Amino acid sequence: MGMADRAIEGLNRPDVALEQTLRPGLFADFTGQAKVKERLEIAVTAARLRSEALDHVLLCGPPGLGKTTIANILAKAMGTTLRATSGPTIEKASDLAGLLTNLEAGDILFIDEIHRLQKTVEEYLYSAMEDYRIDIIIDQGPNARSVQLTIPRFTLVGATTRSGLLSAPLLTRFGIRERLDYYTAEQLQSIVQRSGGLLKVGIDTTGALEIARRSRGTPRIANNLLRRVRDYAQVRGDGRIDGPLADRALAMLEIDQNGLDEMDKRILETIVVKFGGGPVGVNSMAVAVGEEPDTIEEVYEPYLIMEGYLNRTPQGRVATELAYKKLGLKFLSTGTQSRFI
Ligand SMILES: Nc1ncnc2c1ncn2[C@@H]1O[C@H](COP(=O)(O)OP(=O)(O)O)[C@@H](O)[C@H]1O
Ligand SMILES: [Mg+2]
Repeated sequence: MGMADRAIEGLNRPDVALEQTLRPGLFADFTGQAKVKERLEIAVTAARLRSEALDHVLLCGPPGLGKTTIANILAKAMGTTLRATSGPTIEKASDLAGLLTNLEAGDILFIDEIHRLQKTVEEYLYSAMEDYRIDIIIDQGPNARSVQLTIPRFTLVGATTRSGLLSAPLLTRFGIRERLDYYTAEQLQSIVQRSGGLLKVGIDTTGALEIARRSRGTPRIANNLLRRVRDYAQVRGDGRIDGPLADRALAMLEIDQNGLDEMDKRILETIVVKFGGGPVGVNSMAVAVGEEPDTIEEVYEPYLIMEGYLNRTPQGRVATELAYKKLGLKFLSTGTQSRFI
């Protein structure tokens, strides 16, 4: 992997300060995901009308699509406080008990990466979510006893990139479950323009579209690319970003024309070169590219399928003609007969 490859992989890593600045605080500023937004807005309004806490909400979807953003918007819309934590941070049941007993009625407890909760901790969450109480064991040996703690009516908002790893009892305790989809280039274009305004970058619609098209359907990547293109514009141009300048900047950064990242390309190459175009099962593919099967399925494949590079068939994954084109290879025929030269 070259330097540029590594740089590309870093584009979907969160930058805390930048995200604070660019994160929409209201549903009105949140672009795309129209259906999810509508359902959540109705749930919020109804809960407020009844002066109740919002139902527990599970947000699923690949990284960088707006799960944390929505959790924050929900808290604001409900007029409550958001307490944020993450699955791996809660090590013991007592950590969870501490978090839960410090909540006030209506508060939102946001657990990011909820699929990474310890099994023992997860089990405590069941009664907390359902009955608003938990039984914890205090002391050890002969003094050990169980104490029941009552928890205020809170809302759990869980976020996960890997919903397939959640147990059924946890899943069913979320009254609202929403999956976020990749954004269209047009939606990302308006996100880039909004960010450009907030960062005081002069960017026109063609510049914003160029960045949008190459952001893998992901707002976080779009915002990170905007920042890099802004640097380029300041050093190599007059600070303003238009289509041609954005194209030159992105070419210099070796950002793929279609926004594919290194793992996307590795997956396509593996299917085409190693497995003759497929069909190949996700497990064999995972071993070959050195990634978890669940991650391939939930993080990478959805984008490749949406963009038409891959098909999922009962026999396994099959590369499409577009995948061959992307790799600069000639596509001879489809299905099990596909070969490349
Ligand atoms: N729908 C959206 N409209 C505008 N900006 C968005 C949207 N979704 C995400 N973003 C931006 O992308 C960044 C990443 O979003 P985030 O909520 O942290 O993603 P996730 O938690 O799903 O990984 C945030 O800084 C936010 O500004
Ligand atoms: Mg997040």
